Amino acid sequence: MFSHIVSFSIPDELAKGNMAVGVMIMGIFIGIGTALLEAVEAEARNAGCRKLWLITTNDNLDAFRFFQRRGFVVSAFRLGTMNEIRRLKPNIPEIGCYDIPVRDEIEMEKRLDLAGGWRVVRGNGGR
Ligand SMILES: CC(C)(COP(=O)(O)OP(=O)(O)OC[C@H]1O[C@@H](n2cnc3c(N)ncnc32)[C@H](O)[C@@H]1OP(=O)(O)O)[C@@H](O)C(=O)NCCC(=O)NCCS
Repeated sequence: MFSHIVSFSIPDELAKGNMAVGVMIMGIFIGIGTALLEAVEAEARNAGCRKLWLITTNDNLDAFRFFQRRGFVVSAFRLGTMNEIRRLKPNIPEIGCYDIPVRDEIEMEKRLDLAGGWRVVRGNGGR
């Protein structure tokens, strides 16, 4: 069953109304997240978008790893903002992934308009 799902064409599956299948089985590390992200990036490039952008939280180590490995960089780190957001959305848990308190927002982005992507500066930070 999974081999069928992993080898699907996302646009075809979306056209058939099967988006929920891909979303539901994300998180089990079999390539669905990568396939969805690649499809989103392709659509965004076709639409002329200049960057992809997302917000995750400090406890979501899997997402932090996943998006960095796929070209995203941290564009903002907002300390303690989840406490304010929790006042508006009380259903956000206090404790998140890996039993880590959910405290901070991490904003990440991937620029699509830079031919070589982000330049990683090593060593002295470019000074
Ligand atoms: C982050 C997430 C989207 C990845 O989706 P996925 O379909 O599981 O990922 P894929 O199978 O396409 O890619 C494999 C990636 O999973 C992660 N991964 C694989 N095995 C893992 C493990 N045992 N433990 C933790 N992460 C693992 C790695 O980042 C891996 O990428 P890498 O091979 O480049 O290191 C998924 O963890 C998820 O759905 N999380 C819950 C929802 C969520 O947090 N979404 C993001 C909100 S900002």
